[in-house]
Amino acid sequence: MCGIVGYIGNGNVYDVLIKGLQRLEYRGYDSAGIALLTPDNKINVYKTRGKVSALENFCRDKNTESRLGIAHTRWATHGEPTDNNAHPHYSEDGNLALVHNGTIENFKVLKDALQQHGVHFHTETDTEVLVQLIEFIKVQNSCSLLDAVREALKQVVGAYAMAVIDKNEPDQIIAARKSSPLVVGIGDDEMFLASDATPFVDHTKNVVYIDDEHIAIIRKGEPLRIVDFENKESKVSVKQLEWSISQLEKGGYPHFMLKEIFEQPETLRDCIRGRAVADQGKVILNGVLSNSEKFLNANRIIIVACGTSWHASLLGKSLIQQFCRIPVDVEYASEFRYSKPVITDKDVVIAVSQSGETADTLAAIQIARDKGAFVYGISNVVGSSIAREADSVLYTQAGPEISVASTKAMCSQMVIMALIALYYGQRKGLLDAKTRHEALAALHGLPKQIEDALPAMRETAQMLSPLYASAHSFFYLGRGHAFPLALEGALKLKEISYIHAEGYASGEMKHGPIALIEPEFPTFALAFNDALFPKVKSNIVEVQARRGPVIALANPGADLHVEHLWTIPSAWGPFNAFLALPAMQLFSYEMADYLGKDVDQPRNLAKSVTVE
Ligand code: M6R
Repeated sequence: MCGIVGYIGNGNVYDVLIKGLQRLEYRGYDSAGIALLTPDNKINVYKTRGKVSALENFCRDKNTESRLGIAHTRWATHGEPTDNNAHPHYSEDGNLALVHNGTIENFKVLKDALQQHGVHFHTETDTEVLVQLIEFIKVQNSCSLLDAVREALKQVVGAYAMAVIDKNEPDQIIAARKSSPLVVGIGDDEMFLASDATPFVDHTKNVVYIDDEHIAIIRKGEPLRIVDFENKESKVSVKQLEWSISQLEKGGYPHFMLKEIFEQPETLRDCIRGRAVADQGKVILNGVLSNSEKFLNANRIIIVACGTSWHASLLGKSLIQQFCRIPVDVEYASEFRYSKPVITDKDVVIAVSQSGETADTLAAIQIARDKGAFVYGISNVVGSSIAREADSVLYTQAGPEISVASTKAMCSQMVIMALIALYYGQRKGLLDAKTRHEALAALHGLPKQIEDALPAMRETAQMLSPLYASAHSFFYLGRGHAFPLALEGALKLKEISYIHAEGYASGEMKHGPIALIEPEFPTFALAFNDALFPKVKSNIVEVQARRGPVIALANPGADLHVEHLWTIPSAWGPFNAFLALPAMQLFSYEMADYLGKDVDQPRNLAKSVTVE
């Protein structure tokens, strides 16, 4: 959701910024823009609605010579995605240009006050208020850009990452953040600024994560400085990125989503390596060892998450309850934060987020901590806000996920949930050695099982997509461990193919949804070979009795008579979910691709939802 890039160095500023914006395209956006400080200290702003490629076309005959610059992809919040509302925004006298990610909640109050002082506004955005406010303070107080930014941010309520340049103070970018990510990359005689490290990973692996309510002062030829809003210097702590360029490229696949679906065997291997020790029948979770007592003595576990991470959490609930016998609640972070939750210091909260930047999940963590609960974070992004806000963090180690639709990240979250359940089951003495050994052997077997099954799964998905692509709606049904998967299958289908889909617990069909069944309304049923199979089979028959076509995803030998019986290999108990997941992802992928949709960047969606 919105992306920021900045660059100071001897390279071609325009090229670095455009490449950086392309790398951030995955975050989701609807317009793009760039501000370049020319060698003679003028600021040129070029911006346009649409893709970064549209911005490149727009800039083709423009002067792009520059000594530094900032750039932005905008996901519209205040004001439509027009050329004019795109960032960067100039200040009134054109001395400053600013880009911003997030929302300024009190922008109306600030705008009214500035208008009373004669400041004119030219866009519908909340962002323009920030640049006008900074300039107003700078002029009123005859102060430096840094001091004006500090003072302005003290007046701003909301979430933001921002970067501003000033033609009267050339050779510097001032950037700040609160609840929105911002990272500085430190190269040889050059510095980068971005919403995440993807824009500069091929230039440097040295990164500095800016803390909340801190300001980065990026000056040519000087070391990076970080201060808080009171101008107190902070330590600059340089971390090493472990990403490689190949993780950010499609590697021969037509889409990142397909690549990431096929990466899941590797994701599983990376995620269990050193954690699931099969020959000893043990789970080792270093990140949580020192905090185990909190979990072991917890009255209740509350898992907070959004979207796909929420679905992985539902699977976590059934695993933790099954293996650890601790009650688990799974809450949408967006609901939890406003629900006046009853939390005590005997509760443990687990916050699950691929990006580690989801605004609602971050807010939920803050509420839980304020109430004394111990918070585990499960995140895929090292150094992310959620990873830093949590008391203890477990990384999912899935590598960068570029496609907006989350695939391998969910797989890794499910593994972490399984490991937590097995670890605490083992610590509480509730899991006998035989079950532990079986579960861990099964986990180790999954990567190869999935690797072997993926090509056939894709073929089946390719065969089915033309047959079902004209459907306007789908049901996804599942029971027990399969229920979260049904929800995820439906989410994946709607987000990338734009076909309406609802996930239901199979047993709920009779309580209303079955009224919708007719020959044009297909059902995708998950029917694993477990104790609930006879029940699921009855639910399928009920759909068929209303002439609803059924695709059933089942294990070999399933006694089912449906339009399309899709057989996938069996796994140990609840781990059937790991094989069902890629099959459903591939079904959505092939449907969306068949329909010619923008698979990796579906309309209206953002990868990292940094506003509520
Ligand atoms: O980064 P997070 O895991 O916190 O993101 C949560 C959701 O926004 C995310 O899972 C979303 O639902 C994806 N588009 C699903 O594919």
